[in-house]
Amino acid sequence: MIIARTLSDLRDVVNAWRGEDFSHAVVPTMGALHEGHLMLVAAAREKTDRVIATIFVNPKQFAANEDLSRYPRDEEGDLAKLEAAGCDLAYLPAPDEIYPPGFVTSISLGGPAKAGLEDKFRPHFFDGVATVVAKLFIHTAADVAIFGEKDYQQLLVVTQMARDLDLGVEVVGIPTIREEDGLAKSSRNRYLSKHERHQATAIIRALEQAAEKIRGGGDPQTATKAAARSLTTLGFEVDYVSARNAETLAVPVSADEPLRLLAAARLGKTRLIDNIPV
Ligand code: PAF
Repeated sequence: MIIARTLSDLRDVVNAWRGEDFSHAVVPTMGALHEGHLMLVAAAREKTDRVIATIFVNPKQFAANEDLSRYPRDEEGDLAKLEAAGCDLAYLPAPDEIYPPGFVTSISLGGPAKAGLEDKFRPHFFDGVATVVAKLFIHTAADVAIFGEKDYQQLLVVTQMARDLDLGVEVVGIPTIREEDGLAKSSRNRYLSKHERHQATAIIRALEQAAEKIRGGGDPQTATKAAARSLTTLGFEVDYVSARNAETLAVPVSADEPLRLLAAARLGKTRLIDNIPV
């Protein structure tokens, strides 16, 4: 596996691939890789001839009170995992490579980025994500980009941005990889105490119960409110449990729209998110 830390080294490899008529995919990550990320690499391998994984803990998507300094880092372990997963190139840019001194540009987002979900509770988040993802798309010049459905709003935001700005990359979403008990795999799960880890499965159970009620003809608002109440009773600090149009994240106005249930809640110091289709 090739390791590139500068845009110039990355471009040399990508140009050589282009010369050989190889297509390539990018899997953007912030490292601390788990099986969910490796499934994204596996999905990328099936779609294109070559695969790039990026590892960059993006300071612009963390607010001052969030966990940037605490965010888990394990470069050696990550590189070993990527190589074993068949990744062809790992791109690990230094912060200056992405945000050189004097960098002032950001992307103004609408649509799914303003749905009142993650954006409401982490107002800085999608500007930071969009800025770094746009740069990673431009740096890697990838044909395909693979994202997990675990961050469903992020997936829709990035898809919309790539479409609106003609970034020339096909954004593909991959279903969430879960632990055996249903908890969505996440780099942040490692912050959970043993007791919290046990409690954390309540999120997927609450979403599944709500989905079942809706499939049975129940009102989405009532079902998601009940899910939020049950999580609060179990000790979660709930940011939202919401039923949204699966394609736009707008609040549904008719009974035949495709729905997605999305939730975010804090358990102790750890913020967990999850979502499922109805
Ligand atoms: O989902 C993530 O890990 C990050 O938000 C991403 C897409 C790598 C951008 O920093």
